[in-house]
Amino acid sequence: MNYVRQDCAGKTLILALPDQGAPELLYFGEELPAHTNIESVYLVLSSALPNSSLNEPYRLSLIPEAGRGWMATPGVEVFSNELAAWSLAWEVHTVNENVAGFAIRLEDRHAELELIFQIGIKESGVLGLSLELINTGREPVQVVRLASTFPCLSNFTQKMSFYGRWCQEFQHQTSQWNDTWIQESRYGRSGHENFPGVVLGESNFSEQTGEVVGAHLAWSGNHSLRADVAMTGERYLQAGALYLPGEEVLHTGESTKTPELLIAHSCQGLNGVSQQFHREARARTKLTKPRPVHINTWEAFYFDHDLEQLCLLASRAAEVGVERYILDDGWFKGRNDDTSALGDWYVDEQKYPNGLTPLIDHVKSLGMEFGLWVEPEMVNPDSALYRAHPDWVLELPAKEHLLFRNQLVLNLANPDAYVAIRGRLFDLLNHYDIDYIKWDMNRDYVSPSGDIHPQALAQVTALYRLLGELNDAFPELEIESCASGGARVDFGILNYTKRFWTSDCNDALERQTIQRGFSYFFPPEVMGAHIGPDKSHTTSRIHDVVFRAGTAIQGHLGIEWNLLQATDEQKSNIADWIECYKAHRELMHSANLYRLPSVDGCAQTQWYLNDEKTEGLAIYSQLAMPKRVHPDRLRLPALEALSLYRVEVIAHSPMPSHLMQQKPAWWQQKIQLNGASLERVGIQLPVMDPESVLLLRVSVADV
Ligand code: GLA
Repeated sequence: MNYVRQDCAGKTLILALPDQGAPELLYFGEELPAHTNIESVYLVLSSALPNSSLNEPYRLSLIPEAGRGWMATPGVEVFSNELAAWSLAWEVHTVNENVAGFAIRLEDRHAELELIFQIGIKESGVLGLSLELINTGREPVQVVRLASTFPCLSNFTQKMSFYGRWCQEFQHQTSQWNDTWIQESRYGRSGHENFPGVVLGESNFSEQTGEVVGAHLAWSGNHSLRADVAMTGERYLQAGALYLPGEEVLHTGESTKTPELLIAHSCQGLNGVSQQFHREARARTKLTKPRPVHINTWEAFYFDHDLEQLCLLASRAAEVGVERYILDDGWFKGRNDDTSALGDWYVDEQKYPNGLTPLIDHVKSLGMEFGLWVEPEMVNPDSALYRAHPDWVLELPAKEHLLFRNQLVLNLANPDAYVAIRGRLFDLLNHYDIDYIKWDMNRDYVSPSGDIHPQALAQVTALYRLLGELNDAFPELEIESCASGGARVDFGILNYTKRFWTSDCNDALERQTIQRGFSYFFPPEVMGAHIGPDKSHTTSRIHDVVFRAGTAIQGHLGIEWNLLQATDEQKSNIADWIECYKAHRELMHSANLYRLPSVDGCAQTQWYLNDEKTEGLAIYSQLAMPKRVHPDRLRLPALEALSLYRVEVIAHSPMPSHLMQQKPAWWQQKIQLNGASLERVGIQLPVMDPESVLLLRVSVADV
């Protein structure tokens, strides 16, 4: 028996490498002492031999093997007409230590297959696992499943999973985990419905407490997650791309790789998991400049593009402090509503007789960056592109094509379609001074195919390739991932993008729960969050500017509002909030984020604290009517116990109101308290109206 160990970012990973069989996870969690005797760890994990079992029961490995007696779901399943390849049994061939941990090469000689299993802890503390399957034989094999497996502790009996819909992404639900849970996405994108992530942990884990693991599959296409409890007692999570029937066939020498499974482990509850995912996201995006304030034209003008109005909007936006102007849908040839023109990526000459240059020049003269909306993976049947190439769509040719928002998916795995779309994008980016692309994707797949075989996987691979080529060719360009709001939010696409459009819903009340769900995996600086008009376009709810802005500044701020219709007072309010965002973005976009829920569930607090623990910002949001007269005390974790901090109210919803006659006595004082008191005693908050916010800045006091 051989063992390997990695220590990184305060975590330890220990694997056992048996002479026969796949590697076993002996330990992943908080760092173990350097001199820990690994052989003893292995020994104490050996189990008794139960009655009525295999003579040698299978020890759950990182690639569970049906061919060695694993009776629950195996990690890899393939089908071959010629070889006994469906019941696999692996042997470790070589182990290489690399920057990412360990690359372990395994083989099953009978099945004529090799597997490269990559596992390792990243600087963020997140564990990455992936599998690459190689067909070394003479016969083609069909891949049925290729899933990374992560064994969990037996006291992990609670799970938190995610669900959602258009305009209400990232909802979560917590339940007991004592049997099989499966989540599959067949939408062709990570999806509104099934975000590819789950949290498993000991019972009653919470934001601040409990041992938990967060798992996320870094993939933008069909996926399958499985959290299972075997009858023998082992608990494990499996995650991989979902293959449609016959989708992944490997011929001699060919290989396929799973998307990376990311695992964050914490003994400090969900906040600990999120902070590691946030570090991992930061390592991928490598943002080098402050996140500029956006204005997006969609809800201001929809398809109704008038150059004069668009220029006026830019001027108003610059006046209130906006730094980047994004021209949304409606700029290209014949695009007057959502029934036509997708695919025809040429500027509409009727709306823009001199192209986009006059608008871009105006935007730039105001000191703002310019961004453009595109939806390159799509085509409307009513378009020149479709009329010329009806066979370029990702649909079973012989079957009826089902429209979704009046559009079809363009088959990017078709080399001609790929070259054509790539060419249009490169032309636009070479011709115009474009700093930013809002890359949209507004439909699910139905029967993704270019011929008779499914091709959902190839489509995502081609998309990544295209995004990669754009990043290489235009290194200064920033790309946003949008898919009818937040239907394509994952670490796979985050390798190529710098921002997500979190949701089409700009209603601040809905946004609070959407943003909270998003924050379990992603940091604030990649969370597009816009201030809309008083009345939300998607829900018709009305909120004052404080609640709207106090909610939106929790992400990468933007405006989604026709400011030409805003009053002077509204514009001045917006300008103040933009200033507030600019004053705090550096802190919020590099901070450790803590979610602090309320006892009655009617409020939530986001607490941003820098690494040095010298600066923090707490945003308390009263969502629903409080169930008791007084809200909870605000107890701020993770400060330096002995340091003295100054607490200042920096913004708040109008108060006192009908629920409160007088604010607490501390309100007008200059509070100074040490970190221990702020954490353990806390601050009694005022009585706040539903749908209101309070922002408190906490800074180390000068001594
Ligand atoms: C999607 C996006 C919106 C907007 C429209 C344009 O719905 O999520 O933000 O860009 O498309 O058609």
